[in-house]
Amino acid sequence: MEFAGSHILSVEQFGRADIERVFDVADSMAPYAHRRKITRVLEGAILGNMFFEPSTRTRVSFGCAFNLLGGEVRETTGIENSAIAKGESLYDTARVISGYSDVIAMRHPVAGSVKEFAAASRVPVVNGGDGANEHPTQALLDLYTIGKEVQHRGGSIDGLRIAMIGDLRFGRTVHSLSKLLANFDRVHLTCIAPAELRMPGEIVEHLRARGHTVVESDAMESSIGHVDIAYSTRIQEERFASREEANLYRGRYRLNQAIYTQYCEPNTVIMHPLPRDSRAEANELDPDLNENPNLAIFRQTDNGVLVRMALFALVLDVVHLVDRYEAPVSWYTGKRFGE
Ligand code: NCD
Repeated sequence: MEFAGSHILSVEQFGRADIERVFDVADSMAPYAHRRKITRVLEGAILGNMFFEPSTRTRVSFGCAFNLLGGEVRETTGIENSAIAKGESLYDTARVISGYSDVIAMRHPVAGSVKEFAAASRVPVVNGGDGANEHPTQALLDLYTIGKEVQHRGGSIDGLRIAMIGDLRFGRTVHSLSKLLANFDRVHLTCIAPAELRMPGEIVEHLRARGHTVVESDAMESSIGHVDIAYSTRIQEERFASREEANLYRGRYRLNQAIYTQYCEPNTVIMHPLPRDSRAEANELDPDLNENPNLAIFRQTDNGVLVRMALFALVLDVVHLVDRYEAPVSWYTGKRFGE
């Protein structure tokens, strides 16, 4: 694919070579993300960071990624704080904000809305999650993390055995990640969900049509015994008609250290797009896993900065210039707390 000047709206835009290109560029961003050097390659550029749904890590890591490349970030958060609350259309908002920005990252509760917004934008738009549809940058950072974790254990994405657990119907991260995995070879995907929250049939069919194995189950313990990755997800409460309806599923699948020890292989990597719902009635990933070295959730969030830096550098076509705008770091960057 041509990255320069393109919108990033769906993982369907990416072939295997494109994914590998993003990952190579992400690797090259490590010295800047880890504060060994700075770069000002995007000095003067402005990111319009528009988040019309709750977000912590996606919004902040988009902003950090842009800052780490030397750019500035302008934020709009919450429909209630924007002119959309006064009845403004996505078209008008896109025309306006794209006049103030060099690139836009956007999250919105309605599936397809980011694409509609992008059609009216004068600058590239990156999808930060559109309803239950897609979350391409999360899928790329998840797959980047998977690649690093399995490589570390002598494996590869080809032949990967992965279980996705929880709300596979409304979870946009598992939709995008599954479609991205379809570009690789011999993936074995186990979908663990209540019958009402199963992975959409077209995604299952898409994987099968490309020669992958997909198994569906509604039981967790018996299905996580032979996987490289156990990818847990939150019940997407905001997509249900009521909190009561979401409560029917909350807490159905809970992974903790005792269950992990009893059922998983010793090297199984535990992932989650976060936020994990840590309330007692949900607790899909128990805090007693925090010291488990195979818990990769905070490696995922760290990798999110690298992958988003890579996407900005590719879309704004500065990959070849990043080191030309380098400078040393002037502040204390020694050991950080907890390292
Ligand atoms: C996810 C999302 O927003 O889709 N979060 C994220 O971006 N890391 C998952 C979720 O909210 O459960």
